Amino acid sequence: MTAAIAVLAPQVADQIAAGEVVERPASVVKELIENALDAGAGAIRIEIEDGGKSLIRVSDDGAGMNRPDAELALARHATSKIREAADLIGVATFGFRGEALPAIASVSRFELETSSDGDVATRLRITGGKRESVDDAVRQRGTTVTVRGLFFNTPARRKFLRAQATETRAAVEAVTVLALTRPDVAFTLTSDDRPLIDVRPTTRPLDRVHALWGRELADTLLPIAYREGPLEVRGFAQRPAQAKPAGRKGYVFVRGRPIRDPFILRAAEAGYRSTIAPGDRPSLILFLELPGDAVDVNVHPSKLEVRFRDKFFVEKVVEEAVRAALGPLAAAAPLGVGGQGLGVGASWPGLTGTMPTGSAQELFPTDPLSSRPTPASRSWISTRRTNGCCTSKRCASSRATEGPRSGCSCR
Ligand SMILES: Nc1ncnc2c1ncn2[C@@H]1O[C@H](COP(=O)(O)OP(=O)(O)O)[C@@H](O)[C@H]1O
Ligand SMILES: [Mg+2]
Repeated sequence: MTAAIAVLAPQVADQIAAGEVVERPASVVKELIENALDAGAGAIRIEIEDGGKSLIRVSDDGAGMNRPDAELALARHATSKIREAADLIGVATFGFRGEALPAIASVSRFELETSSDGDVATRLRITGGKRESVDDAVRQRGTTVTVRGLFFNTPARRKFLRAQATETRAAVEAVTVLALTRPDVAFTLTSDDRPLIDVRPTTRPLDRVHALWGRELADTLLPIAYREGPLEVRGFAQRPAQAKPAGRKGYVFVRGRPIRDPFILRAAEAGYRSTIAPGDRPSLILFLELPGDAVDVNVHPSKLEVRFRDKFFVEKVVEEAVRAALGPLAAAAPLGVGGQGLGVGASWPGLTGTMPTGSAQELFPTDPLSSRPTPASRSWISTRRTNGCCTSKRCASSRATEGPRSGCSCR
């Protein structure tokens, strides 16, 4: 028997969309912070309880919404950020799909309080996608979204949530990555009333790194400042001697948008050549700037991936950018693990990299990204080996036997 075709009710469609957009409390945190940044917030406060499982609240001092907009914001595919598909080229906001709010509201007890003028405010309550009430409220300009009981109406999904500590860590990570890309914005995160993140606005990305992770990391970083054709690479690469096998930070931002891209991180590691011991993973924070039409940001529902028009070029330039940042350290090193293991050790024609000298603070005083309303999503930490040859921690590739640290028995 062939089943009759029916168009899904909007509530059902929202719940299905929620499957892609809302995986766990941290995804809600990410989407709500992105909305706050898109609204021009200068300060964002995030509260979670029980790892976000019982409560997530994100408050901002951004543009807010008037009542008609607030009601519309909860409709699927309702967005203020694009009007037609062509607007996707070079889109400078984090959001553009108009899916996050209705998706979140369909799987939670959702409350939106917002005011665009600090005078009239609206409070909207939605439970499991069903509108409960729209009331007057009192608040300053800006928006507060409160999400309670995430997945209360989809028990199968609620079961997938991890222990409180694990969900809390994921939420901290979601805030961290967005705080990294926008050092000009203040962020606070409290978990069960305990302050976990509290960073003030700054113009210097290194100050933000320092505020998030302390001196232990910040003092080990070298600035990256490199341009090749249309691609600019900025950020930080850890000094080779300080790289460790575990616990590294690895972040890639494209036009201010955090993405997961193991290949770019690997290309950056290739820039170290054999200056690091096989198995050691340097911390890397990479901000890639390139024209909007050189990258497609609409390839992933949570916008965690992008597609480059010329990925090979991007990887080459990233590798060179890191090599230039390491300066004599990498230049003097023989080609080793990273480079040839990836088949990218040979010199790259047409390089115009400048070798930074001086401290990170002098060289990287301001981040051009931070002055832009470009915003972004989440981090990715590579833990995979450079190639598939070795699984031992000490070995990064089949070339390991030829590097300065031999002893790996790869074949
Ligand atoms: N914190 C906020 N401040 C002001 N406007 C907001 C906020 N959050 C959401 N909005 C409005 O609601 C719309 C829908 O949000 P969302 O569902 O996340 O979709 P998107 O961000 O893709 O447009 C946004 O386009 C924006 O106009
Ligand atoms: Mg959004």
